[in-house]
Amino acid sequence: MYEIYDRRNMAKLDVLVWPAKVLETKSDEVASFDDELKQFVKDMHETMDSANGIGLAANQVGVAKRVLTMYIPWVQQDEQDEEKRYWHDQRYTFINPRIVKKQGKISWQEGCLSFPQIFEFVDRAAEVWVEAQDENGETFEVHADGLFSVCLQHEIDHIDGIVFINRMSRLKSTIVRKKMVRRGSLNTK
Ligand code: NI
Repeated sequence: MYEIYDRRNMAKLDVLVWPAKVLETKSDEVASFDDELKQFVKDMHETMDSANGIGLAANQVGVAKRVLTMYIPWVQQDEQDEEKRYWHDQRYTFINPRIVKKQGKISWQEGCLSFPQIFEFVDRAAEVWVEAQDENGETFEVHADGLFSVCLQHEIDHIDGIVFINRMSRLKSTIVRKKMVRRGSLNTK
């Protein structure tokens, strides 16, 4: 009880930056859909919004559980995605998500809250069908395309302990790793 009370007063959670070990750890399934989980989901949405992220995985805030939040605002100047889609301006919570079907290929310039100021093209499936549970444990399925599909695959990778540098070419990945390590060593001085 004490812990739940404390969480309610917590403004937001801290987003961890790579190479935090939990980012490369496979997260556990959620088994109990209790008040603590519901509060955690709220905190994740709040954290994601205040960091201007469109997606967040629980292990990015240090919790190795299979929970994702997503909110993709409709931005008209987005060159890659000109039409407003059903998934824009929608708040999503995915618990224990799994990809049941994939189709096609897409390349998108991705960013990640755990890799500030890094934007690189990554190849993904163009469309995915994802089955998940909501915070009450109810099962639902979504069909995702465009940025929604890219974001879902990026976030599901997170809870599997896979960060987007693992999806880049060896050369790009090496450059990003070096940048991050250099930046990290500057920050700790
Ligand atoms: Ni990310």
